[in-house]
Amino acid sequence: MDSPSGKLTRKNRIIVGCQWGDEGKGKVVDLLSRDADIVARFQGGNNAGHTVVVGGTKYALRLIPSGILHPGKICVIGNGVVLDPFVFMEELAMLKKSGIGTTDRLFVSAATNLVLPYHCAIDQGEEAERGNGGIGTTGRGIGPAYQDKVRRSGIRLADLFDDGRLKAKLDIHRRTKGRLLDGLPGAPKVDFDKLYTDLISLRDVLRPMMIDVSLMLEEAHKGGAVILFEGAQGGMLDVDLGTYPYCTSSNTTVGGALTGLGVGPNLVDEVVGVVKAYTTRVGAGPFPTELNDRTGEILRDRGGEYGTVTGRPRRTGWLDLVLLRHTCRISGVEKVAITKMDVLDDFAEIKVATGYELDGKVLDNVPVDIARLPDCRPIYRSFEGWKSSTVGITSYTELPQKAREFVGFICRELNVGMLLLSTGPARDQTVMV
Ligand code: GDP
Ligand code: IMO
Ligand code: MG
Repeated sequence: MDSPSGKLTRKNRIIVGCQWGDEGKGKVVDLLSRDADIVARFQGGNNAGHTVVVGGTKYALRLIPSGILHPGKICVIGNGVVLDPFVFMEELAMLKKSGIGTTDRLFVSAATNLVLPYHCAIDQGEEAERGNGGIGTTGRGIGPAYQDKVRRSGIRLADLFDDGRLKAKLDIHRRTKGRLLDGLPGAPKVDFDKLYTDLISLRDVLRPMMIDVSLMLEEAHKGGAVILFEGAQGGMLDVDLGTYPYCTSSNTTVGGALTGLGVGPNLVDEVVGVVKAYTTRVGAGPFPTELNDRTGEILRDRGGEYGTVTGRPRRTGWLDLVLLRHTCRISGVEKVAITKMDVLDDFAEIKVATGYELDGKVLDNVPVDIARLPDCRPIYRSFEGWKSSTVGITSYTELPQKAREFVGFICRELNVGMLLLSTGPARDQTVMV
C-alpha cells in the first residue's frame, strides 16, 4: 500500500516548519491526515508550495490543505490565511482534473482576507523598487494583503456576497491603490473595472464553502473529531520572530495557528516541528550556514531544491541548531519530523552548526538583535556520513547506525521527541518512530 505501517495516537497536532520553509510540511501533513478528520490551514497564502507525492503522482498545493488528497477528509482554510480567489479556483480545477472532489469537504472562513490583483502588482512593483536590496518575495501579493488586513481595509470573503459593501471597498482601493501604483513603474497594470465582474463570477463556487471556521472546529472537537493544523512557511520567516525584514508577513508559529483559526489552546494536544536534515532558504536574507560551494550545489541537486511556487533555486547549507533552538522554543515544539534524511546519504562528512561566534563570544541562541545574524560565524560539529542508501527505509532499526546517531544528536540538543523520519517524498518512505 501507499501508506507506512504504524498507527499514531489520535491527537490534535499543529504542524509548523522550523527553518525557512520547504521543510517537507506537505508530505508530513498528508501523512498525518490519515489519522485526522479535519485538516486546517491557518496562515500564509499562495506563497506556500507544498509538494505531496501520492502513488507516484506529484501534487503542488498552495492554498488547499494537503489533507485534501485523502478522500473524505474535511479541509478548512482559516481567517489567518490570505486567499487569492483566482489561484484558489486554479487549484480547485487542478484537483478536479486529478479526480479529487472537494464538494462538501472544503470550507473557508468568512473572515479570510482576499489577495487581489492590486496586491500582487504592489508586491512586484515594490520589489522592483527595492532593486538589489529586495526581500525576494514570491510576488504573490502576500505582504500587501496582510497590510490591508491590519490597516482594516481588506476585502474579506464575506464581502463578496454584499454588493454594496464590495463596491464601496473596491472603490476605495481603486483610488488609494491606484495612486500607489502610479508611483511604482515596475508594477503590472491592474484593471479595476474587470475585477468587480471577475469577483462576483466566483460567488456560486465560493458561497457553499463559506463558514464560521472557529465554530465548526469547536463543534467538531466536541464531537470527537481529530484536527490537524497545517502551517505554511517556517519559524524563521515569522513576521515577529523570524529574520525580519527578510521574512513573510504572517505568524508562521504556533500563535498563528490559534488566531488564524479562532481556537484556543485547549484544542491542541501536540506541536510537531518539521525539520529538514539540512537547511534551505529562498529569497534574500541572512543564512549563517549557507554553502556557496560544490557541497551546496550537491545538496541542491540531490534534494531537488527548486521552489514549488517560483521555480527559483533554493539556497542551501548545513543544519543549524541555533536556528532550530529558536524556532522550537517560539512554537513550543514537542516532537520533530525530520525530513530528507536520504539527501545526505552519500556525504562522507555532514556538518551541524551547534553555536555561533559573534564579537568574540559563543552564542547558543540567535543574537538579541536578529539583524546581526549576518555577522554570526557558525561553529560546526562534524559527523561521519553513513555512506549508504536510506531511501525508502521504514524501520528505525534498519537505518544505518551513523544516521541514528545523527538524528539522536539533533533531538537531544533540541530536547524534543521524534515523531517520524522521512526517507523519500512518497508516503510509504517514512519511519514512524
Ligand atoms: P513544504 O513547503 O514544507 O511542504 O515543502 P516543499 O514541498 O516545498 O519541499 C519539500 C520537497 O521535498 C518536496 O518536493 C517533497 O516532495 C520532497 N520531500 C519531502 N520529504 C522528502 C524526503 O524525505 N526525501 C526526499 N528526497 N524528498 C522529500
Ligand atoms: P512553504 O509553505 C520558502 C519566502 C520568500 C521570501 C519571503 C517573503 O512552501 O514552506 P512573501 O511572498 O511571503 O512575502 O516572501 O518568504 N517564502 C517562502 N520560502 N517556502 C515558503 O512557503 C515561502 N513562503 C514565502 O521566498 O524570501
Ligand atoms: Mg514549499
